[in-house]
Amino acid sequence: MSDIAKLQIGENTYEFPLIQGTENETAIDIKTLRAVSNGVVTIDPGFKNTGSCQSAITFLDGEKGILRYRGYSIEELAEKADFLEVAYLLIFGDLPTKAQLDKFYNDILDNAIVDDDIKKIIDAFPKNAHPMGVLSSLTSSLTAFNPSSVNVDSEEDMYNAIVKIMGKFPVLVAWTMRKLNGLPLHYGSRKLGYVENVMKMMFEKPNEEYDINPIVKNALDKLLILHADHEQNCSTSTVRIVGSSHAGLFASISAGISALWGPLHGGANQAVLEMLEAIKKDGGDTKKYMGKAKDKEDPFRLMGFGHRVYKNFDPRAKIIKVAADEVLGDLGVQDPVLDIAKGLEQEALNDAYFVDRKLYPNVDFYSGIIYRAMGIPVEMFTVMFALGRLPGWIAQWKEMRLRKEPIGRPRQIYSGENYRPFVPLDKR
Ligand code: CMC
Repeated sequence: MSDIAKLQIGENTYEFPLIQGTENETAIDIKTLRAVSNGVVTIDPGFKNTGSCQSAITFLDGEKGILRYRGYSIEELAEKADFLEVAYLLIFGDLPTKAQLDKFYNDILDNAIVDDDIKKIIDAFPKNAHPMGVLSSLTSSLTAFNPSSVNVDSEEDMYNAIVKIMGKFPVLVAWTMRKLNGLPLHYGSRKLGYVENVMKMMFEKPNEEYDINPIVKNALDKLLILHADHEQNCSTSTVRIVGSSHAGLFASISAGISALWGPLHGGANQAVLEMLEAIKKDGGDTKKYMGKAKDKEDPFRLMGFGHRVYKNFDPRAKIIKVAADEVLGDLGVQDPVLDIAKGLEQEALNDAYFVDRKLYPNVDFYSGIIYRAMGIPVEMFTVMFALGRLPGWIAQWKEMRLRKEPIGRPRQIYSGENYRPFVPLDKR
């Protein structure tokens, strides 16, 4: 293939270089288009054909159902690594040695205390505040309590900001859930690993010792790994674009949390469980809901189905489906919505509407069923997604800053009124 793309506009032909990725993906580099063509830009709502950056973090082939972090397959990582190792891999580029991992974790623990005044902010939220709104606000407030982490001018500053957010974020996640459950806010223990500590902080009751259930711990590790990065999705692009204004890591992550909250993105895991419950309450008639999903007059969508990039299967969903069976089996939980989910999946996989549009279960279809079996309230599901996505957001923000990417500032094609003279109020 030639390494040049030609674009003809009217009489003029312009040439643009092609960029080839390490997995042979091809992009047309149009950086110079506007300058050479006298103001012509491209337009691509939803960025369906637009690469916003070059990135060495995550490779995703939506046609083949491949997902890799830094070259390692998601299947192998979910099976063999723990979440902290994967976080290190995403953020620093390689799997850590034992010494590197120990240092990273010690630095995280040294920075895990959050200012006690943050409890006042949590107390000021109404009890029924959505945990994603609370988490986003608390993450943003970290900027006020840690002003030295705002301007990161060196790799050392960057590292310090990273270990701070890796340490404080699980505390905020756990406190958000404890507030929801009316439990006193407290810290975990330095003696525990990252995921065990999150569990202790989330679930421990004030009047009893908390024993880590290894089945729950393994399932949580796996879920967090599967959510850890997904290249330039809505929340990650948000983190990169906010960070591109040099707003700082915590403000960028807070913006990412808001983006993740929406039901078309991370909020789908909550929406899936609410949908499955609604179907159950309505007598379990999955056919009725399949019909609604296909009816263009009906706004209902089958939540947990479809993906912008996966047009085959979502490899994360495959792993989570198996994990859901294992966890529920091991914990002895019988959840009727698991059967409804499996029924819906079977029907969709054999239905021309879903097959033609290449709509398959995504990562969120089964994850909520596992979270619920672990005792996590449904409003917290997207918060758990955020906890998993944190290292991905950090890695993407760090890459964007180290590559000195310019501020994100798209163009537009104006389609409003042409100039009109101002009409004073008494003449309108
Ligand atoms: N139920 C019914 N129809 C659907 C669904 C669905 N879940 N998803 C897509 N379609 C249809 C859509 O109506 C359109 O049909 P037509 O071509 O006749 O107009 C076609 O499929 C293409 O859909 P689209 O909305 O143009 O596709 P998109 O790439 O813009 O949207 C999506 C991707 C994930 C937002 C969408 O599939 C969706 O809304 N799914 C449900 C929400 C969900 O589960 N989100 C979680 C995504 S995975 C977690 C994450 O990483 O965020």
